[in-house]
Amino acid sequence: MLRSPGQPFGLYVHIPFCVTRCGYCDFNTYTPAELGGVNPDAWLLALRTELELAAARLDAPTLNTVFVGGGTPSLLGGERLTTLLGMVRDCFALAPDAEITTEANPESTWPEFFDAIRAAGYTRVSLGMQSVAPRVLATLDRVHSPGRATAAAREAMDAGFEHVNLDLIYGTPGESDDDLLRSVEAAIDAGVDHVSAYALVVEDGTALARRVRRGELSAPDGDVLAHRYELADARLTAAGLRWYEVSNWARPGGECRHNLGYWNGGQWWGAGPGAHGYVGATRWWNVKHPNAYAELVAGATLPVAGFEQLGADALHTEDVLLRIRLRQGLPVARLDAAERRRAEALLAGGADDALLVAEGDRLVLTDRGRLLADAVVRTLLG
Ligand SMILES: C[S@@+](CC[C@H](N)C(=O)[O-])C[C@H]1O[C@@H](n2cnc3c(N)ncnc32)[C@H](O)[C@@H]1O
Ligand code: SF4
Repeated sequence: MLRSPGQPFGLYVHIPFCVTRCGYCDFNTYTPAELGGVNPDAWLLALRTELELAAARLDAPTLNTVFVGGGTPSLLGGERLTTLLGMVRDCFALAPDAEITTEANPESTWPEFFDAIRAAGYTRVSLGMQSVAPRVLATLDRVHSPGRATAAAREAMDAGFEHVNLDLIYGTPGESDDDLLRSVEAAIDAGVDHVSAYALVVEDGTALARRVRRGELSAPDGDVLAHRYELADARLTAAGLRWYEVSNWARPGGECRHNLGYWNGGQWWGAGPGAHGYVGATRWWNVKHPNAYAELVAGATLPVAGFEQLGADALHTEDVLLRIRLRQGLPVARLDAAERRRAEALLAGGADDALLVAEGDRLVLTDRGRLLADAVVRTLLG
C-alpha cells in the first residue's frame, strides 16, 4: 500500500467494549451482555493478527502517534493495555517522541492503572467527564459520580502524565448555564492541559433519541448551544486553554497531535472493529461486530468491510471542511478562484459580523464564525 512519504503517520486502535451504553452514544461499542461475554485475551490475539497484517501491507512506517480509543480502552486494565502497546511495538517502529494516547472512562481507572500505563510508555490520557451536574450525568446515563472524572485526571497527572484531556458535553436537556460553568471550572481546577467540549448530538437509534421522540426530553436548542459554547470558550480562554480546533482547547504544547493529523490530511491505519483508516488516497472501514472481526482475522484476512478511493473533489471538500475548523486556519492557496471570491463575503462585515478573518495567507474563523462553522464551509464550497 502506498503512503505519501514525509508525512506523519498514525495508528488508531478501536476497543469496542463498554460496561454499559450511555444513552446518547452511537459509537461502535458493545456491553458484555450484548456479546454473550468478552474474552479480552482472545480479543487481543485477534488485534495482534490485524496489526501483523497491517505491518505486512505497509512499507515499514514509523508511527508518530498512536491513539487507543473506544468504547472504553481502560476496561482492558493496565496489564492488557501494556500488552497492546507491546504488540504495536513488535509490528511498527515508534518515533522517539511518539504521542501515545489512551481513552479512559473515569469508572474503570485507579492510581495503579495510571502508573502501569505510564510505565508502559503511554504519554497521554483522555477521560470522558461530560459534566459535574448530577442531573446532567443522570440524563446522559453516566454511571460515575460527579467528582470521579477530575479525581481520575489528578491521579493520571500524579502518575506522571503531562498530557491529560477531559471531554465535556454541553446542551444536555435540563442543563443550566451554571451547570456548564461549574463543569468547565472543575476541569480547569483539575489542572489538565486539554479540554474537548462537544455539543450534545441526538444520534438516531440511541436511547436519547427515543426519549426525545416520545417528548420526555427536548432536543438541544441551537441558540442555547451557541450561548453555552461562548460561556465555555470564554472561561477556558481566560484560564490559558486556547482553542486550536472548534471543539478543542489546550495549553501550549498540549494539543492532540493524533487528531491534528486527521485534521491536516495526515494518514493513519485504523485497527479494531469498525475502525476507519486512510492511506494513500484510499479510505477503508473495518467490519463493526467484534465476533465478525475476530473470525476474519483468524483466517488471516484484513477485516475490511468497505473502501473508497478519494478523488480530487472529495479530498478538496475534506481539506476545506477540516482545516477551516483549526485555529491555524485554511491556507488561501488551497481555494480555487470561485471559492476565494465567496470567502470575500465571509471576510466582510467588521469585527462583530465577519465569519472569517485573514491572518497572513490563511483564513481563520472569527468568534462568530466558530458558532457557524458548518455554514462557512457550505458557503466556501458553494
Ligand atoms: C469514547 S468516549 C470517551 C471515553 C469513554 N468511553 C467515556 O465515555 O468515558 C468519546 C467521547 O465522545 C463524546 N460523545 C459521544 N457521543 C456523543 C454525542 N452524541 N454528542 C456529543 N458528544 C458525544 C463524549 O464526550 C465522550 O467522552
Ligand atoms: S460515551 Fe464512552 S462509555 Fe459511554 S457508551 Fe460511548 S464509548 Fe461507552
